[in-house]
Amino acid sequence: MCGIVVAVAKNNVASVLLEGLSQLEYRGYDSAGIALMNGGFHRLRTTGRVAELNKIVNERKLQGKTGIAHTRWATHGEPSEHNAHPHFSGEASRIAVVHNGIIENYETLRQRLQAAGLKFISDTDTEVIAHLITFNLERTLDLFEAVRDSVTELQGVYAIAVMEEARSDRIVVFHNGTPLLLGLGTSGNYAASDASALIQVTKRMIYLKEGDLAELYCDSYRIVNCFNGSMSEVDRIVHESKLTTEDLGIGSYAHFMQKEIFEQPSVAANILEEIFNTNSASPQLFGDAAKHIFTQIDKVLILACGTSYHAGLVARHWLETVAKLTCNVEIASEYRYRNPVIQANTLVVGISQSGETADTLAALSYAKAFGHRYSLAICNVAESTLTRQTDLCFLTRAGPEIGVASTKAFTTQLTGLMLLAVVLGKLHGKLSNEDESKIIGALRHLPVSLNRVLRAESEIKVWAKKLSESQHILFLGRGIHYPIAMEGALKLKEISYIHAEAYAAGELKHGPLALIDKDMPVIVIAPNDELLAKIKSNLQEVRARGGKLYVLADNDSSVESSSGLEVIRLTEYAGLLSPILHTIPLQLLAYHIALIRNTDIDKPRNLAKSVTVE
Ligand code: M6R
Repeated sequence: MCGIVVAVAKNNVASVLLEGLSQLEYRGYDSAGIALMNGGFHRLRTTGRVAELNKIVNERKLQGKTGIAHTRWATHGEPSEHNAHPHFSGEASRIAVVHNGIIENYETLRQRLQAAGLKFISDTDTEVIAHLITFNLERTLDLFEAVRDSVTELQGVYAIAVMEEARSDRIVVFHNGTPLLLGLGTSGNYAASDASALIQVTKRMIYLKEGDLAELYCDSYRIVNCFNGSMSEVDRIVHESKLTTEDLGIGSYAHFMQKEIFEQPSVAANILEEIFNTNSASPQLFGDAAKHIFTQIDKVLILACGTSYHAGLVARHWLETVAKLTCNVEIASEYRYRNPVIQANTLVVGISQSGETADTLAALSYAKAFGHRYSLAICNVAESTLTRQTDLCFLTRAGPEIGVASTKAFTTQLTGLMLLAVVLGKLHGKLSNEDESKIIGALRHLPVSLNRVLRAESEIKVWAKKLSESQHILFLGRGIHYPIAMEGALKLKEISYIHAEAYAAGELKHGPLALIDKDMPVIVIAPNDELLAKIKSNLQEVRARGGKLYVLADNDSSVESSSGLEVIRLTEYAGLLSPILHTIPLQLLAYHIALIRNTDIDKPRNLAKSVTVE
C-alpha cells in the first residue's frame, strides 16, 4: 500500500526521503514521487522503482531541507506519472500533498470543486484533498487550520502530509486510520507510514492516534486531536523503537522471502523462550487481564485476512481439540458486512502480521460495536493499530517481515495460537497437566523440527523444476492440513502467478475431479494422522485419472513413491503441530518456482504488504 515519508531538517533531506521510500518498498507500490522545497516546489515522479527515482533526483541534483515523498499503490486511476504523488492543486499550486488510504466521498467533493472552477489533472482522490485544502487556505491563511477544516469534510480512512510553498520550515500531517508515525531526530523531525523508514535517522517515535493533526518543524512539533472536540495540544508518548538497521537488511540471501523462510527456526525459538523452562503456558503470555478474560469466555471468533486467515483455520482445530471451545473463523472483509449474532462472552481474536490491515481492523471494531466484549490481537508489529485496539495482545516476535508473501509471520502466528489453545484448555479444565506438558514439549522441539524440514530444500527444488511450467496446480489436504493446502496455493499464486487452488481432499469427487488429467499436477499433504487412509484413497482417485501426484509426507506416513507419484518425507510425525511443519516445503516450493519463473518475488505484481485500504 502507499507509503509516506516526510522530513523537515537542518540539512538536505533528499537522501533521507529516498532511503525511507526504499524501506517502504516492501509494502507494494507502482509509482513513486518526491517534492522538495528549495525556493519553491521541486517535484519528480516516476512509474519506475524507488531506485529510478533516486537516479533522477541525483541527476537533477534535487535538494531541499523540507520534503515529502511517496510510493503509490493505485486505487483511483492507473499507475502513471500524472497519478503519482505528491499532488498539487493546479499548476501554480501553493501546496503539495501525499496521501495513503481512500477518500470515499471524493466524487461529490470533486464535482463541488469543479463547479467552483477548479481543474483536475489526475484521476486520483488525492487531488481532491489538495484542492480542498487550498480552497480552505484562501480563507484561513494558515495551513494547519486549512487542513483541520478540510479533514472534517473528508470521509474515509487515510493519512496525509501537506507542505506549503510559503512556509518552507513546516509540514502538516493528519492521521485517520491508516498508519502514520512521527520520528523525532536531533537534526530534524520526520513522519512516515512505518518505523522502518525512519530508523536511519531516529529511534524516537510517536504513534499518532486517530484524528491527530500535527505540525512538524525542524526542532519542534505540535499535535492536536481533531476528534476530541477541543483544539488544545495533546501529549503523545515518545517510544524508543527496537528496530535496528540489521533487522531490515537482507543479509546473504537473494530475497527477503528466502531469508524469512530460513529464519523460521530461530523466530520460533524467540517465541518459545517464554516457555523454555516450564511445562505449562501461563495466561500472562497474552497480557495482564488474560486470566480474568479467558475464564469469562465460552467461544472464540477469529477475524483475519489472507495468510492470517489460514492461521485462524488451523487454530479452530486446535481450540476444538485442546480447549473444547467452539471457534468460528471469518474472513474479515466479509464479516464486517454481516449481521452477526451477538455472543458477549466470545473472545474475538484479530490475527494480523502488520496489525494495519484495514479489513481486519474494521471487522474487529464491528464485532466490538455489536457487543462482543473481549478482544485479543495476535500480531507481529508492536505498537500497530491492532495491538492498540484490543484488550489482550500476543506479539509473535518474528521481526520485520519484508517479503510480501507472508512466511515466518504465519508459523509464529500458529505457535502463538497453539499456546492460546493450551492456556484456554487449562483454564477451562479441558486439558490435563500431562497433555499440556506433552504439547509444550513438542513446541520446545519445534525449532529443531523446522530446521530438519528446511533440509528438504534440495528435493523441493527438483519438484519446482518439474512444476514451473504448469498452468494450474491443485493442492489437497484434509482436516487440520486443509488450511495448509490453502496456504500453499495462496503462496504459489501470489509470487509465481501460477493459478493454484486448494481443496479439502474429500471434496474432490464433488467437482474438481473433473479437472484431473496429465496436465494438472496435484500436491498432496499426507501426514501420518487419522486421515491418512482417507487421503490415500484420494490419491488413488487422482492416479486413476492420469493426474501427477506430488506428496508431502512425514517419516511415518505409509505412502511410497511409484509411477506418477513422488513423495518427499519431512521429519517425524509432529502430532498437532504437523501443520506448522508442512507449511515450510510449500513456502520453499512457491519460492523456487517463482525463482525459475523470474518473477519479482519480494514485491509481486499488484500486491501490497500492508493492506491499509478496504
Ligand atoms: O498483515 P496481515 O496479516 O493482516 O495481512 C493479511 C493478508 O493481506 C496477508 O496475509 C496476505 O494474504 C499475504 N500477502 C499472503 O502471503
